[in-house]
Amino acid sequence: MTAKFRIFTAAMLFAGLAAVAEVPVYLDESKPLEERVQDALSRMTTAEKIGIIHAQSKFSAPGVQRLGIPGIWCTDGPHGIRPDVLWDEWEQAGATNDSCVAFPALTCLAATWNPEMSALYGRSIGEEARYRNKDVLLGPGVNINRTPLNGRNFEYMGEDPYLTSQMVAPYIKGVQENGVAACVKHYALNNQELDRDHVNVLVDDRTLHEIYLPGFKAAVVDGGAWSIMPGYNKYDGEHACENPVLLLDILKGDWGFDGVAISDWGAVHNTEKVAPNGLDMEFGSWTNGLNWGASNAYDDYYLAKPYEKLLLEGKLPMSDLDDKAARVLRLIMRTSMNRNKPYGSLNSDEHYAAARKIGGEGIVLLKNEGSLLPVAPDVKKILVVGENAIKMMTVGGGSSSLKVQRELLPLDGIRELASGRGVEVLYERGYVGDVTGEYNGVITGQDLKDPRTAEQLIADAARAAAEADMVIFIGGLNKSDNQDAEGADRKDFALPYNQDAVIEALVAANPKTVVVNLTGNAYSMPWVDSVPAIVQGWYIGSEAGHALADVLFGDVNPSGKLPITFAKSLADYAPHAKADPAMYPGVDGDVHYKEGLDIGYRYTDKLKPGRVNFAFGHGLSYTNFELGKVSLSGDGLGEKGGYTVTVPVSNIGRRKGAEVVQVYVRDLKSSVVRPYKELKAFSKVELAPGQTKAVKLPLDKQAFAFYNPDTKLWTVEPGKFEILVGTSSDNIAARIPVNITEPLTWSDSVR
Ligand code: GLC
Repeated sequence: MTAKFRIFTAAMLFAGLAAVAEVPVYLDESKPLEERVQDALSRMTTAEKIGIIHAQSKFSAPGVQRLGIPGIWCTDGPHGIRPDVLWDEWEQAGATNDSCVAFPALTCLAATWNPEMSALYGRSIGEEARYRNKDVLLGPGVNINRTPLNGRNFEYMGEDPYLTSQMVAPYIKGVQENGVAACVKHYALNNQELDRDHVNVLVDDRTLHEIYLPGFKAAVVDGGAWSIMPGYNKYDGEHACENPVLLLDILKGDWGFDGVAISDWGAVHNTEKVAPNGLDMEFGSWTNGLNWGASNAYDDYYLAKPYEKLLLEGKLPMSDLDDKAARVLRLIMRTSMNRNKPYGSLNSDEHYAAARKIGGEGIVLLKNEGSLLPVAPDVKKILVVGENAIKMMTVGGGSSSLKVQRELLPLDGIRELASGRGVEVLYERGYVGDVTGEYNGVITGQDLKDPRTAEQLIADAARAAAEADMVIFIGGLNKSDNQDAEGADRKDFALPYNQDAVIEALVAANPKTVVVNLTGNAYSMPWVDSVPAIVQGWYIGSEAGHALADVLFGDVNPSGKLPITFAKSLADYAPHAKADPAMYPGVDGDVHYKEGLDIGYRYTDKLKPGRVNFAFGHGLSYTNFELGKVSLSGDGLGEKGGYTVTVPVSNIGRRKGAEVVQVYVRDLKSSVVRPYKELKAFSKVELAPGQTKAVKLPLDKQAFAFYNPDTKLWTVEPGKFEILVGTSSDNIAARIPVNITEPLTWSDSVR
């Protein structure tokens, strides 16, 4: 071989090695994320940028195959990983590998008042999403429970913005540590399902910032959410997906959101509006987001060909497209293109244990006269009554419906535990509610039909009740339309299917009757005085039977607290107090949040005593707790670092348990109207019998502030405040005065 050829060969080899060694920046995970994003963007054509900002199937969007950039797959929902549907149809794909664990509904998670449970929840559901190769989990939902008629409240975290804010961030971090994006929803003001696609919410700025935005802000600023879902409704005249105030001014401006705003399915309506106003990805157009829609309409999406046409005609700026595409690339590199993410796991023992623990901590013991619970050792014959003891609840309810690997029903869980204690468990239906056996194409396989009349069902149950040592009624709502389900609201505040009559008949036949209701919302309780023990069970998911049995038999000491107010009647909720249709469900498409801040306990605190069955923050235990002398330390707010409330909590009972210390702040004199008190700190503490712990709760300037809509600043006015400390919003054990001397104002905008 000549010298020249050797040199040529060496040069070619070097060039080849150099070429092999030179990985493009966007593919090099050792490079900073932003460099990779910009490098990828610089290599993309306009058509490729358009291609990645809208769906290509029901739940996926493409990447850039030419550049080796993968697309993303989204999945519902907030409580578990939805079974796959066909590429372009809502019907089930019929896969054999997509059964999952159903975790408790988020109202149950909120009822734990334990951010550690949120972290466990997010980690667990994130592992299931990861294992199923999903890149975006379409959850959690954090819309405030404004009306107990809202069909989707079971997917959310209750009526209080501070509780929601504290519970959402750990969930999001837990999901995202799996390399799966959380997609907090439905941003914002999606507080009813009735007419959800068109309803236009009109609300004052202060209420927007103090009540309806904090959960979303915490998700973005504290939780670091990689995506967010603007909802169907309008706010102040513009659809949430096309609303520059929500998306540009607040989300991307004030909060500095660097993720992707993903439309709700079918929530985009106009190219000229959606393109410049801050939405980044479009899904589900030409569908209702539930069960019908145009086929293969992807090129006709508002952010597809119609958008490309306006860009090429120079009618819309390329800069908007570049921002959208950059955000989507960032999402792809955080998720589907992230080679460092864990493998996840599906249906693991750990996930079932997590579902059972969260459920057990979320169940709320509302009443327990004569310590009827836990089931006493001398109880040898229990009658269980009610459809919700035998009905699958992990299916139905809309997009959060699941196909579970297994669901232990309440009756089976009770029977399993009772059998180990030699307790006989009989069952009577009591009433017939919803016998549907199929939801979203998932067949339950249950045949719940019963030919008996309502009268016979009650008579049979009452007869059996008279012969039992104890009766456990398990009823409530369910996941069918006009109950706890997406797409429609409840028609009234009462329990359906004549359950009140069943309960009255049971307690008349046997005073030792426990009522357990599984719902996502509050409801009327005409029997509240005659029933000695009442348990709020929520929707608990795959481990419902175990979690409920654990609490009813005392293996778990209940420690849940209500995240919502259980008022006596619908009129005790401000949006319904005057039966003004403009306040709910809206008139001519407009719904006016005239009640302002008066949501939940912020309103019932104003009512005459006796209007509330069970208050926000209420929940009993099988042991008893005592709060010691509460003290306040600190020299002031702002640079002085704020205050700390120290609360000695003692377990004065005979068994281990957990209590939630709650701190509310009251502004005694203000230039604006303020609620009587507002939750500003809480902490759950576990104590052995006889043990005392000093719980410390910080109060910073935010705890004293209100939002001034004129200055757009959070504002603390000097003057007298009161710190109210208790174990429920209606059980305040101590009041400590504090005098704020210096006025404070600040903007929480990162701009
Ligand atoms: C639905 C819901 C949303 C869900 C999406 C995809 O209509 O509003 O929460 O994630 O469409 O199913």
